[in-house]
Amino acid sequence: MKVFTAIQDIRAHIDERKRQGEMIGFVPTMGALHEGHFSLIAQALKENDAVVVSIFVNPLQFGPNEDYEAYPRMLDADLEKAEARGVDIVFAPSAAEMYPEEMQTGVRVHEGTEVLCGKSRPGHFDGVATVVLKLLQIVQPTRVYFGQKDAQQAAVVTNMGRDFNLPTEIVTGPTIREPDGLALSSRNVNLTSGERREAVWLYEGLKQGALWIEEGTYRPREILEGAKHTVEANISGTLDYMDILTYPGLRPVKEWNERVIIAGAVQFSGARLIDNIILSPGQKGRA
Ligand code: PAF
Repeated sequence: MKVFTAIQDIRAHIDERKRQGEMIGFVPTMGALHEGHFSLIAQALKENDAVVVSIFVNPLQFGPNEDYEAYPRMLDADLEKAEARGVDIVFAPSAAEMYPEEMQTGVRVHEGTEVLCGKSRPGHFDGVATVVLKLLQIVQPTRVYFGQKDAQQAAVVTNMGRDFNLPTEIVTGPTIREPDGLALSSRNVNLTSGERREAVWLYEGLKQGALWIEEGTYRPREILEGAKHTVEANISGTLDYMDILTYPGLRPVKEWNERVIIAGAVQFSGARLIDNIILSPGQKGRA
């Protein structure tokens, strides 16, 4: 496995591999690799000749009071795991390599950010879109992989790909869960043991909402009331939001004839957890 920290070195290496006709799969991460990342890596290995993983905790996507400093960093362990999973190339740049000077340009996401996480994390998706565009320019992959757990991120990046005619195919892989249902996340390590036990209730609430959407008996507002109650009655953290929207458009649901997402976020003492379920038209009742 090759590890690069300099942009010009990884570029030269990937240029060479592409000259040899290799298709490059790319899994961008912020490290603290877990089974969720490994499932994207496995999919990328299947669909491409070589797989690049980037490990970079991107300061641009953290707000002033967010967990940039506390975000888990464990590069040596990550490199070992990446190698064991068959990753060919790791790109682990420093912040100075990625942002040698303050950016004079950036991507501004102007639709789909006033809902879900965007509401309480102003500027977050601009930071994500900007770094993803930079990483795609550096790696120039055939395909890039994002997890469905970060559904709003996957939607924003997919929409950016369409808006900017990016040549890379943008692929979304399924959410991977602990046996009790908790979605895997690098932030789970920052839960206390009590919070870890409660954390599964976010998914329980979403599942209940999804079931009601499928049954078609209730309207979105009623569904959300019930699902929110299920979460709030069982956690010590705060439910930041729970919503039902079209996906990937992230617009209010008027009729049940589109794909919809039911998504929620819970703030615990040291970690903010998000989760969602996406339902296709055949799975739903009436709005
Ligand atoms: O999902 C993440 O880990 C990050 O938001 C990403 C896509 C690597 C951009 O920093």
